[in-house]
Amino acid sequence: LKDKALAELAKCSDQNELNEWKVQYLGKKSEFTSIMRGMGQLTPEERPVIGQLVNEVRGALERAYEAKERQFKREALEQKLQSESIDVTLPGRTVPVGTLHPLTRVIQQIEDIFLGLGFEIAEGPEVETDYYNFEALNMPKNHSARDMQDTFYITDELLMRTHTSGIQVRTLEAKKGAVPVRIIAPGRVYRRDDDDATHSHAFTQIEGLVVDRNIRMSDLKGILLTFARRMFGPEQQIRLRPSYFPFTEPSTEVDVSCYVCHGDGCRLCKHTGWIEILGAGMVHPRVLEMAGYDSEEYTGFAFGMGIERIAMLKYGVDDIRHFYVNDTRFLKQFANRG
Ligand code: PHE
Repeated sequence: LKDKALAELAKCSDQNELNEWKVQYLGKKSEFTSIMRGMGQLTPEERPVIGQLVNEVRGALERAYEAKERQFKREALEQKLQSESIDVTLPGRTVPVGTLHPLTRVIQQIEDIFLGLGFEIAEGPEVETDYYNFEALNMPKNHSARDMQDTFYITDELLMRTHTSGIQVRTLEAKKGAVPVRIIAPGRVYRRDDDDATHSHAFTQIEGLVVDRNIRMSDLKGILLTFARRMFGPEQQIRLRPSYFPFTEPSTEVDVSCYVCHGDGCRLCKHTGWIEILGAGMVHPRVLEMAGYDSEEYTGFAFGMGIERIAMLKYGVDDIRHFYVNDTRFLKQFANRG
């Protein structure tokens, strides 16, 4: 019986067969159990001898069974490890990662520069009222300067802002006559313009406004020169040309020297060696008064610059439309640039 059982056990190839084997040879209905039941009929002399034999055989079968079971468990575990193993030497899958849009980068750089100079960041709505976009900036209805910027009107009183200058007024109103006021305000602006390499009906500006006692034109010049040098490099020069805006007096247009230009950006500079990047001036007393500031006591300066223009110069981009079509071949180039 023992030999037969062990031979059968050796043939078991999985846990199921092993279970069946156990039922057959060690279970309640096994030959073994019936032998033990028959022990009562043996003579007293035979009983210990047979009993010992039976115990030995059962012990042997149980040990053999356990050994086999351990073997199956080990094999199962090994198979599992094998199938679930990770080959750490395989090359990884690259996950495509987006990059900051070049305009966003330039806005952040400009914000950093002005935050370092003690400015705060303000914002205003892209859908603006006629009052903030024009009237409070000393451009009453029918003022001829409104023609300088072709406007997308929504209703008589609502429009897409043509510049970020309305934020000057909104900021002054919010500060309720308190000084100092030192803000910059980035945002998208809209003008009825035919799109081409240097014009877009929607583009980005950053507005600046400083109001305090004794603010002078030289403060404006100093801040803008500091900005230009931090943005483009320590050799950077600026040039102020007289200009006109209804909300500043005097007004100026500011050029940077073409020291800044790289590659295709240089073409923007044409032959003069200078390129205009912003409009600025001393805040018009009427603007201060309308917003609740005493223009005898307070003065200020304001400026507004085009971000696309600055990004084109800084990165040598030859067509403003590159910024809006989101071609990843274009956007990717800015991944690791300052
Ligand atoms: N808002 C003017 C423009 O869009 C720029 C400007 C801002 C000029 C502030 C003077 C002061 O052209």
